[in-house]
Amino acid sequence: MAPIRHYFGRSAPNADQAERFTRVLPAERMYAAWEGGRAVGGLGAFPFQLTIPGGRVPAAGVTIAAVLPTHRRRGVLRSMMRALLDACHARGEPVAYLWATEDTIYGRFGFGLASFTAEIDLPRERSAFQAIFASWGHVQLVPPATAEQLVAPIYERVAIKTPGMFARSSTWWQVRTLDDPEWRRGSSGDLQCAVLQHDRRPTAYALYRMNSSVERRLQTGSVAVIEAVGESPEAACAIWRYLLDIDWMARVKAGLLPLDHPLLLLLAEPRRLGFSLRDGVWVRLLDIKTALSARSYQPDGSVVIEVTDEFCPWNAGCWRVGSPGVERTGEAPALRCDASGLGSVYLGGFTWMQLARALRVQELIPGAIARADIVFHVTGAPWCPEIF
Ligand SMILES: CC(C)(COP(=O)(O)OP(=O)(O)OC[C@H]1O[C@@H](n2cnc3c(N)ncnc32)[C@H](O)[C@@H]1OP(=O)(O)O)[C@@H](O)C(=O)NCCC(=O)NCCS
Repeated sequence: MAPIRHYFGRSAPNADQAERFTRVLPAERMYAAWEGGRAVGGLGAFPFQLTIPGGRVPAAGVTIAAVLPTHRRRGVLRSMMRALLDACHARGEPVAYLWATEDTIYGRFGFGLASFTAEIDLPRERSAFQAIFASWGHVQLVPPATAEQLVAPIYERVAIKTPGMFARSSTWWQVRTLDDPEWRRGSSGDLQCAVLQHDRRPTAYALYRMNSSVERRLQTGSVAVIEAVGESPEAACAIWRYLLDIDWMARVKAGLLPLDHPLLLLLAEPRRLGFSLRDGVWVRLLDIKTALSARSYQPDGSVVIEVTDEFCPWNAGCWRVGSPGVERTGEAPALRCDASGLGSVYLGGFTWMQLARALRVQELIPGAIARADIVFHVTGAPWCPEIF
């Protein structure tokens, strides 16, 4: 952990910090480059169950990639990534995914940009909904330390049907999501947890912080939404209405929202959201057959794709992909792309047409792009609500 902490301006972790981390990332899934008994590079992979269109797959959540400035650009990351992806492949984990701090790092290892995410910064006085929203359920504030049993089932009901989200273990909730140590707060307020009950059932929740400030006796503070999750449209609208109505707060800020977020059509003035895009998660298929077989496709269609894959050459070749199944084939391909292209379309965050417009896929048989988009079609944008 020391190399990544270095880039956050911190020294090596103490025993307590290291122990907390190994509770969510088993030590055997960590890689390090050593010199003189000291780690100069580090890389790890959380053992996730990732939701994809139509199901879940075991996935490596690649994290804490870093090489000390004293040892950069000598192939240290490349060799750690080699070891990590080979081990995932050997373990039967068909997919790896990650958040990239820089866009230029992971394409060379076969990761493709797989989703976009949005940030908002909304003046609270411009947050009216476009139609009257009748109060729905009631909200209760719950101490985060005791919120798991209320919020985890809501998260899971949403996560299991939302590509990009991963299943959270109880340990993850305790160590990562609901824990509120001083160092994580920065200058923000304490972690707050609001739970919405409807018909005496918890159906939505929000984790957020209040950043209170006053200038010339005017309230200028903001609500920083960490995660707002509702299991139905009504529940999601109600928890957002709650967040948008907190007194004293001048603005409501949130990041890591999915591109098809309901606020865009809920608000009377969506322009006021300042909805702005960032790159989201990157996906790498480690075992094309298993990864693509686990995904759902529209009925009665398939397409032959020739895949090139320098970093994981066992994937290279022609694959017939579609609802009848996924198999290697000797047939002539209709499309040709590299592994990163497949990563981009895997969760449904990009279409084949978008890849084609960016010259990331070759159409070898006329009409194949349109056909592939019918086969791979999904409704809903991928969403990963947290950076891991
Ligand atoms: C990103 C980082 C881990 C790369 O480590 P490294 O050991 O220098 O990388 P390597 O020497 O193995 O580089 C492999 C290739 O990626 C390229 N590369 C690596 N980091 C790059 C970057 N930030 N921008 C552009 N290219 C990069 C190298 O030029 C090299 O290219 P090649 O394969 O054509 O020879 C290191 O620079 C670092 O720790 N950065 C700060 C922390 C960080 O951003 N971590 C990523 C968290 S998601």
